Amino acid sequence: MSHPERRRAPALGVCYYPEHWPESEWSSDARRMKELGVTQVRIGEFAWSRLEPARDAFNWEWLDRAIDTLSAEDLDIMLGTPTATPPKWLVDEDPSILPYGADGRPRGFGSRRHYCFSSRAYRREAVRITTALAERYGRHEAVKAWQTDNEYGCHDTVRSYSPEAAAAFRGWLSEKYETIDALNEAWGGVFWSQEYADFSAVDLPMGAVTELNPSHLLDFYRFSSDQVVSFNRLITDSLRERSPGRTITHNAMGFFYDFDAFALGDDLDFMGWDSYPLGFLDVAPFSADDKARYMRQGHPDFAGFHHDLYRACGKGRWQVLEQQPGPVNWAHHNPAPLAGMPALWAVEAAAHGADAVSYFRWRQAPFAQEQMHAGLLRPDGEDGPAFAEAAAAEEVFERLRSIVDPAGKPAANPTSSDVALVFSYEAQWTFEALPQGANWSYPLLCFEWYTAMRRFGLNIDFVRPGADLSPYKLVIVPSLPILDEAAVAAFKDTDGVVLFGPRTGSKSVTCQIPASLPPGPLQTLLPIKVVQAESLPDAHIETGRFNGAAVSACRWFDHVETPLMPIAKTDDGAGLLYPHQNYYYLASVPDPFFLGALVHHLCAVADIETVLTPPDLRIRHMAGLSLAVNYGPETVSLPDALQPETLDFIVGSATLKPASFALWRSIKK
Ligand code: GAL
Repeated sequence: MSHPERRRAPALGVCYYPEHWPESEWSSDARRMKELGVTQVRIGEFAWSRLEPARDAFNWEWLDRAIDTLSAEDLDIMLGTPTATPPKWLVDEDPSILPYGADGRPRGFGSRRHYCFSSRAYRREAVRITTALAERYGRHEAVKAWQTDNEYGCHDTVRSYSPEAAAAFRGWLSEKYETIDALNEAWGGVFWSQEYADFSAVDLPMGAVTELNPSHLLDFYRFSSDQVVSFNRLITDSLRERSPGRTITHNAMGFFYDFDAFALGDDLDFMGWDSYPLGFLDVAPFSADDKARYMRQGHPDFAGFHHDLYRACGKGRWQVLEQQPGPVNWAHHNPAPLAGMPALWAVEAAAHGADAVSYFRWRQAPFAQEQMHAGLLRPDGEDGPAFAEAAAAEEVFERLRSIVDPAGKPAANPTSSDVALVFSYEAQWTFEALPQGANWSYPLLCFEWYTAMRRFGLNIDFVRPGADLSPYKLVIVPSLPILDEAAVAAFKDTDGVVLFGPRTGSKSVTCQIPASLPPGPLQTLLPIKVVQAESLPDAHIETGRFNGAAVSACRWFDHVETPLMPIAKTDDGAGLLYPHQNYYYLASVPDPFFLGALVHHLCAVADIETVLTPPDLRIRHMAGLSLAVNYGPETVSLPDALQPETLDFIVGSATLKPASFALWRSIKK
């Protein structure tokens, strides 16, 4: 996944809202941005009411002047389509564009993202404003990139329960199943008399007395994701026609899985995501200990996990389109970062291959919902604490841009990884539709594997099911309930070591138990049959042994029938880990120690060098450089195995204070 041509990357960016500030301040803002080293300014994504205050009464002049002012300082513009914020006049004109909640009621005007992806009227409106914008600015020489909309799905808006969503869902189902008998069969409609006589009789999965049919839910989740992707495609089609040669992206979110970002990425030139490490530490289900320890730094793997996921969604090209600068406004608690962290986050993103990091936002707004959200500047226009952090990040970016390897290529270019983590949005939807255990969390499972592997200093590539696995020595499949032919073929075609976690192959494509029992089609690779599966409360831990050490597993247990001999067992003798040729089946969820032991073992089998790092330290290798970041509240040292005394440090040293990083020329990968 390397792309040698990286122009001016990593670049420093900011998110700017000229419509929030007196025009008299724009030119000094632009000058200060340039002085800071900013080269990319992201604007426009919420400006509809200023661009079109009434239907067809366009007011472009202010945006013309804003773009000209920024480009006079040689700043590149990334222009957002303002489609996340339909103006009030549009909502009043046609309230059918509103999204509906699962309670069957419309969600109203007054914040943002108040539209339904299935609203045909809104699709027309989104294309209309996009087209008008692209006709005006599509060939403007300062406009180098577009961002579609803003954070699809934010505020729980992928799944809408509107009458139009219901109609579109019925159409989607009839196209998929062709006959209602096929749908009844696929959903097991005979159960509880859920058979339908016609597609027109199918409702959205909502408001039922008790649990809904998982096949119905899974199809609704797939449909809802498809609606996001097709909505986005309408916008990209309009932009591509009118803005040739410009790139198109979208800003995705952290810990968000309601649409398939791989599918979205297929229609984009590069992927973007918005990195808020402190906000997400607070709102995500991290342990109380982690929340306390990393309150001012974020979880050591939060940013890296998403950098690597979205790098894959962007086919190797991606940016951080919003970088947290200071306290945010939307978490339960909004602490300030430790001095150094906003710069560290940006540098870490660059080490994971980001083409740019854009701080959100240039200046803190003194009004409306986000008035407590920090910017690089304070509301009074003076430098906030993050201003110097952005300057510090840019200083390192400049080095990353200028250091080249002997072949003349940037040493900060991404390098190839030996390890792939197979990640599937459909897996998450399947488990949402049929969880079976309250503490089973697919994203958490993937995150735990990611952490275990990162602790060993490994670079990790995310891949979607069915992707070519031949570049990888080790492939981790934390779980993959639905295995299509392409996924199975990719597993068959690799010589790499592949580990399959519990519940892999546990469902057919229609969310039923496979006729051959789980792991279904995986039985062509591994002689294993899951004859009983248990979910386990947190209080129950299975203890066992692996490679002579005591280990524990939790949350889930697949009991299997197999001729294979397990190499890890519970104390009761039940198999935990079964090897077969280059494949492994793991029957439960390992605790962090067991995970570490597994990673170590599998890397040894796959001939991958590992270096265990202290818990708060992460190392990321680039083509010719390596970066270590310290997320902990204490000073840490690079592991001895790296032979720190031999390293050629460019920034920092082998001893890393809290919130600091070290950059050195890599001697080997
Ligand atoms: C993002 C969003 C921005 C802003 C920011 C605040 O989710 O894209 O518009 O709201 O959060 O942290």
